[in-house]
Amino acid sequence: MFSERVERLSGSLIREILAAAQRPEVISFAGGLPAASCLPELDFSGVPPHLAQYGTSEGEPEFRAAVVEELARIDLNVEASQVLVLSGSQQALDLAAKLFIDPGTPVITEGPTYLAALQVFKLFGADITTVQQQNDGQLSADTLQQAIAASKAKLAYLIPTFQNPSGACYTEATRQQLAAVIDAAKLPVIEDDPYRALSYDGDAPKPLVTHLKNAPWVYCGSFSKTLAPGLRIGYLVASKDLIPYFVRLKQAADLHTNRLGQWFNTRWLQSGEYLDHLKQLQLSYKVGRDAMQAALEKHFGDIADWLVPQGGLFFWLTLKQPRDTRPLLKVALEQHNVAFMPGEAFYANPEQGLGHLRLNFSHASPERIEEGIARLASVIRAA
Ligand SMILES: Cc1ncc(COP(=O)(O)O)c(C=O)c1O
Repeated sequence: MFSERVERLSGSLIREILAAAQRPEVISFAGGLPAASCLPELDFSGVPPHLAQYGTSEGEPEFRAAVVEELARIDLNVEASQVLVLSGSQQALDLAAKLFIDPGTPVITEGPTYLAALQVFKLFGADITTVQQQNDGQLSADTLQQAIAASKAKLAYLIPTFQNPSGACYTEATRQQLAAVIDAAKLPVIEDDPYRALSYDGDAPKPLVTHLKNAPWVYCGSFSKTLAPGLRIGYLVASKDLIPYFVRLKQAADLHTNRLGQWFNTRWLQSGEYLDHLKQLQLSYKVGRDAMQAALEKHFGDIADWLVPQGGLFFWLTLKQPRDTRPLLKVALEQHNVAFMPGEAFYANPEQGLGHLRLNFSHASPERIEEGIARLASVIRAA
């Protein structure tokens, strides 16, 4: 009855956990949600009535222009015609998978990487080669080069800035080296960048794609982490050779993106309110980051290693004694009312990623963070 690809359709562990972690007594470090207190008020008064009509597949002109201005701030200079507005940046991954991936297509990702990217790449049949991040949170250009050559890769997917899940942020030098390798191979690359604005210790280096000279590229942006994920507004920007294909794929997927959401976001961007809002988010999440760092030092110092994330929403813990953390989640949730994301879920081959935990610090209050980390440490120790 179904297509052959449905056999490769996996469930998303995180969406299943999120459902279980909804109970108010659970302290959840599992999701990647903005804090409820940081969500904007949904004021839709003054929406022009014509927005009830169908819109263009590419997106609202004012919104695309506002995105171009935002990108110029980070040295990504593009034309509005290169911006495609999407129903969340997740849609960029779906469209890119349709554009590039057939069953068996070799694709490179970091290890670890974003689990919903793995979900969609695998659905389309990608043969994934994982390039491990180093202990210092950087990605080795030499290792990438070897992986491209060995796998005959046709696509690379990277999250260079405050990565989900590892929190790592590649230095300017790493970005230049990776871009040189990608250029030399003329390898199409997707740079996924939803966390850039959530930086707590200074601005992140400019996007990796700004260093490219001839490789085809896709850059994905999102307003889910900085405004309102419920509006589902994201976008992709791509090199000019790719854009016509993406526009047709968007037409075939859902005609166009929600016009009310685009209108709402445009008002925030044009009014300057957005920049103030970002500053508030940075201040508030930095408090969460620091509270988690203090709690981890107290309760996890002898059982795990980690780097302090300079941005994004996550700590990535490496247990000193590696073990599969998936069975621990049930114990943590059911017996201790605390939720985390087992690190195995962020590897194409989970056996390659035993012994990591991803912990979100934007959702729980500092007091709950201390309590939750203490509970989690007791679960790990008991195991
Ligand atoms: C790396 C990464 N890419 C894409 C997304 C999807 O974001 P959006 O809500 O814009 O679809 C997420 C969400 O968590 C993410 O972490």
